[in-house]
Amino acid sequence: MRRHLIRHIVLVGMMGAGKTAIGGELARRLGVPFRDSDAEIETAAAMTITEIFARDGEAFFRAREAEVLGRLLAGPASVISTGGGAFMQEGNRKAIGQAAVSVWLDCEIETLWQRVRQRPTRPLLQTADPKGTLIRLMEERAPVYGLADLRFRSQAGDSIEASTRRLLTALENAASSPFAPVPKDRP
Ligand code: S3P
Repeated sequence: MRRHLIRHIVLVGMMGAGKTAIGGELARRLGVPFRDSDAEIETAAAMTITEIFARDGEAFFRAREAEVLGRLLAGPASVISTGGGAFMQEGNRKAIGQAAVSVWLDCEIETLWQRVRQRPTRPLLQTADPKGTLIRLMEERAPVYGLADLRFRSQAGDSIEASTRRLLTALENAASSPFAPVPKDRP
């Protein structure tokens, strides 16, 4: 079936779940733009997220995140990957609900930890016990991520390509699909 994207696809979930990697591949397959809210915030601020947190604090970052998300959602249908905290804000969830199909990329804690432990780019994990912090955040956030339209469980050992193919099938079959069927007789 040819697919015509009529709503954004917004990926939500924990740091390290693969939102950027899978989102990029999904957009490529669909031939639509890919936007990463973290990258857009960094570009707009001309600073890294670590620098924004250090200089202006988390509340300032969350305000910029909401602005960027609003701007992306107002644009043409695309695949948008969000930072792990974005879906926690009620205003963001409402905006996403109006313009997009949301997907929770759900991933086991050990996989998340293996991915994030090497990289110092997540200010929220700069604690004495980063793994404990990651587990606590996951526990706090899972019920809210669960409000997404679709829950997609990543499978250990799946490549980006395999995960993306599986996600595409799930989106096609979802009750709240972001696609409109394109009539066969249209060129
Ligand atoms: C955050 C996740 C990060 C980034 C910021 C805060 C969070 O994005 O937005 O460090 O609150 O979980 P990723 O989920 O892309 O790592």
